[in-house]
Amino acid sequence: MKGNKLLCAGVMLALAPAAFAEEAETGRALYEANCASCHQFDGGGVPMMQPELILSPRANGDIGGVIDMILLGSAAVEPGMSDYSNEMPPFDYLTDEDIALIASYVRTNFENAGGAVTAADVHERRKRAGLEGTAQPE
Ligand code: HEC
Repeated sequence: MKGNKLLCAGVMLALAPAAFAEEAETGRALYEANCASCHQFDGGGVPMMQPELILSPRANGDIGGVIDMILLGSAAVEPGMSDYSNEMPPFDYLTDEDIALIASYVRTNFENAGGAVTAADVHERRKRAGLEGTAQPE
């Protein structure tokens, strides 16, 4: 029994990095489909139109800041005068899982070190914003 458990733990350890790499790949694909048109593939943004995400304050700060930006869009999160001519739309129709993968991708790339976000984190912010039920099934 003991040997089996050890073997089991060994297999799980061996599989964990593969699962992590797959999540990172999905996060990148989701970022490229939903965000890169504005923030660019390399996170460099476009001057005057939308900010770069390299060393982004929100991507490095509290997880609520970046989740709310994605869920609610820029007009809701930063109302009033903006330095940018574009407006970031809300992505509340994406699932908690997809938003978590995108937020994690942004927070662990482009020189950011904010760390990963979970679907439960996104769900909590969605509830707080009264947006339960807005995610579209895939
Ligand atoms: C239509 C263009 C557009 C799209 C698409 C878009 N954004 Fe944005 N984003 C903006 C603009 C404009 C701002 C700046 C808003 C402001 O400060 O007034 C912004 C701001 C941000 C910020 C805050 C940057 C900071 O100051 O730290 C983050 C993070 C962000 N976007 C992530 C994303 C992610 C992730 C996606 C995809 C799910 C996305 N954006 C899609 C235009 C866009």
